Amino acid sequence: MNLTDFLPTQETLYSRIGAGRLRQIVQMFYSLVKAEPLIAELFPDNLSETMNKQEAFLTGFLGGPPLYHQTYGNPMLRYRHAKFAITPSRAKAWFTCFADATRSIELEPALEQELLEAVARTAAAMVNTPEDLE
Ligand code: HEM
Repeated sequence: MNLTDFLPTQETLYSRIGAGRLRQIVQMFYSLVKAEPLIAELFPDNLSETMNKQEAFLTGFLGGPPLYHQTYGNPMLRYRHAKFAITPSRAKAWFTCFADATRSIELEPALEQELLEAVARTAAAMVNTPEDLE
């Protein structure tokens, strides 16, 4: 038995994933988004700014430095998504891209599950339009 096993740690999802793997997920995610007809049209042709924002946001969201806040202020995600009609099927398509991107880099299984759970909750909360009012 080792006391260290019981002490609180400074570990976060961000520190466990690491900046390099997070960037790989974000890059893969947007290449899948571009190929997903349900949501591709919502995004600009040039995704580099979108990618930077997403990477900055996820860094803070997963417990790392608050990069998005520092540059762009409060994310107010639902508010910033209000101009897009996010139906349940669009949210599912978005999340499928995110999950496929994550699985492609083969994180440790427990880590993968924790990341996908956190992001799935947020994606579900972004729905702002019923399916038939799209
Ligand atoms: C559920 C389905 C979602 C759809 C269809 C969607 C779609 C979009 C679109 C079209 C943009 C604008 C891109 C641009 O013009 O640069 C955007 C921005 C953004 N999204 Fe999402 N999104 C979804 C969920 C999420 C989730 C779950 C997160 C966080 C985990 C997220 C984080 C962001 C961030 C940080 C931005 C940049 C906001 C800004 O500063 O303009 N989105 N999203």
